[in-house]
Amino acid sequence: MGILYLASFMKILILFAHPRLSGSHVQRTLSDAVSSLSGVTFHDLYAAYPDFTIDVAREQALLAEHDVIVLQHPFYWYSAPAIIKEWLDLVLELGWAYGPGGDKLHRKFLMNAISTGGADAAYRRHGRNRFEITDLLSPFNQSAHLCGMAYLEPFVVFAGRWLTAEDLALKASDYQGLIEGLRDGHIDPMTRLAKAYALPLAFEAQRLQKKRHAT
Ligand SMILES: Cc1cc2nc3c(=O)[nH]c(=O)nc-3n(C[C@H](O)[C@H](O)[C@H](O)COP(=O)(O)O)c2cc1C
Repeated sequence: MGILYLASFMKILILFAHPRLSGSHVQRTLSDAVSSLSGVTFHDLYAAYPDFTIDVAREQALLAEHDVIVLQHPFYWYSAPAIIKEWLDLVLELGWAYGPGGDKLHRKFLMNAISTGGADAAYRRHGRNRFEITDLLSPFNQSAHLCGMAYLEPFVVFAGRWLTAEDLALKASDYQGLIEGLRDGHIDPMTRLAKAYALPLAFEAQRLQKKRHAT
C-alpha cells in the first residue's frame, strides 16, 4: 500500500533560476502565476546571489522548512542554468543531505518545472534530441533519490516561445493549479512520482513505522 499524503498541506519552495530574466517570456509568465501564492516560497537564485556566493546555511534552513522543492528554470544545454549546479554542489552537503547522518531531506519531494526551446516531438529516441526529457533530467532524479527524496514527474512547457499567448496562459494556469493542488493536499505527490520511480528507503522506513503503530 502507498503512503497517502492526501489532504495534508505541503509547504512549497520554488527555487527559480533564469540568468537573463529581462529577455524571458515563458519563465516570466510561469513565475507570475506562482510567485505570490500564499504558502509558497518563491526564491529567485540569480537575484539573491548575483555573484554566485550562495549562503549555504540560509538555503539549508529554507529546505528544512519546506516539503516540496521545485527547481523552476529554462532547460539549458540539456540541463539547468549554472546557478542551479552551484546550488546543488554547495547546499546538498555530505552529512546533511546524504551519507552518514545526512537525513535532512528525507521524505521531501523534488520536481523540475522547466521550459524548453525544443518541441515535445524532438525529445524522442528518434527525434532531434535523441533522448526523452525525463532521461535528460535523470541527474536530478538520482540526486533526489540519494538524498531520500521522492522525485516527481517534471512540469514541462515544450517550445514555449512558439506557443500563442493563450496557450502559454493555459500552461501557466496548469502550473499554478499543480502548485496549489500540492500545497493544499488536493494533489497527492505520491500520485505524481516520475515514471518507474522506486521510492528511496527513507520512505519505506516511514511506511513500516506507520504499520507498526497501527498494529
Ligand atoms: C544557453 C541556452 C541553452 C539552451 N539549451 C537548450 C536545450 O538544451 N534544449 C532546449 O530545448 N532548449 C534550450 N534552450 C532554449 C531555452 O530553453 C528556451 O529559450 C527557454 O526555456 C524559454 O524560456 P524563457 O522565455 O523564459 O527564456 C537554450 C537557451 C539558451 C539561451
